[in-house]
Amino acid sequence: MRRSDLSLLNFHFGLISERLGRTACFCGFYSFLRPLRFDPKRKCEVRKAKPTLPFRGKASEIRPLTQTVQIAAFSVLPPACRSLAQYVKFDLMTGDEIREKFLSYFEKNGHKRVHSSPLLPANDPTLLFTNAGMNQFKDVFLGVEKRDYTRATTSQKCIRAGGKHNDLDEVGKTARHHTFFEMLGNFSFGDYFKEEAIGFAWDLLVNEFGLDIERLWFSVFEGDEEVGPDDEAREFWIKAGARPERVLGFGRKDNFWQMGDTGPCGPCSEIHYFMGEDPSDPEQNSPHWVNGPGDTTMEIWNLVFMQYNRTLEADGSFLLTPLPAPSVDTGMGLERMTAVMQHVKTNYDTDLIKPLVEFAAKLA
Ligand code: ALA
Repeated sequence: MRRSDLSLLNFHFGLISERLGRTACFCGFYSFLRPLRFDPKRKCEVRKAKPTLPFRGKASEIRPLTQTVQIAAFSVLPPACRSLAQYVKFDLMTGDEIREKFLSYFEKNGHKRVHSSPLLPANDPTLLFTNAGMNQFKDVFLGVEKRDYTRATTSQKCIRAGGKHNDLDEVGKTARHHTFFEMLGNFSFGDYFKEEAIGFAWDLLVNEFGLDIERLWFSVFEGDEEVGPDDEAREFWIKAGARPERVLGFGRKDNFWQMGDTGPCGPCSEIHYFMGEDPSDPEQNSPHWVNGPGDTTMEIWNLVFMQYNRTLEADGSFLLTPLPAPSVDTGMGLERMTAVMQHVKTNYDTDLIKPLVEFAAKLA
């Protein structure tokens, strides 16, 4: 059966906003015989509709949930609803749909959709393979190349098998590294900076993809002798909706990004997602696992606040100079986000990779 055929009844669930101080789920029968798939148009309908079950708060404070939380909400449905809801099958977004949703979200927000550049970088002797979405924009960040747009979005094919960002030794040890992957990114070339970048990321993850904020963690640069702590990013996450204890400080290894030994760079802020069974488990869903061992809490998106250029000086030292304009470079792992949205434990179990593994297994 196709997705649209599956919707005998359509349930929309909402989450009572954080402002009400709790994250209780409720359900309402808003409409019948509609496709389950969440889309921006539906969002308007849901916002206007009145839920039939009692809840505290105004309808405007309810935000519709996408499938991730719908599934979680299913388990708390009153039994009467549950017996009807058994006719509804929740369908998951495919990797292709996730890529498209990311790119069209940023397009809608004034970004130019740009093709992935080749895996072998043109005119850049500092790189063996393309290792990030920002590679093709390096000269734009440095101010030596001008484009007719100041915002861009891409799904960049990357290889991390050598050089500064080398995942080769991680493959097979973790469930989230595979040397070749697609990086979804949004870029600002001297246009918006930290606040808007963080606002977009929160809106896309929470309101569009419907991720549960109880599963999200945020990291910011805590500063060192060269660059100070990124207190601004911390404030902007809190302003966007994150609880202060969910914003953690880390050092240069995790929260200062540069594409190689030289080139554009800056402090970064990562978004991590808890993939375990029970987000209310304080042992498992805890700061200890952010940038810690295992795959259960996994980085899904890195926002780099491009502020500096690092150059190699004649005496062999590295010099950090400000870029012509503060810029933004972000990278979300498409396969990781797909694992999150498809509720699987490893990237290899997503519809992006599993068919390849199965095909290879058949040949073996
Ligand atoms: N360029 C940044 C990264 O690769 C977004 O993590």
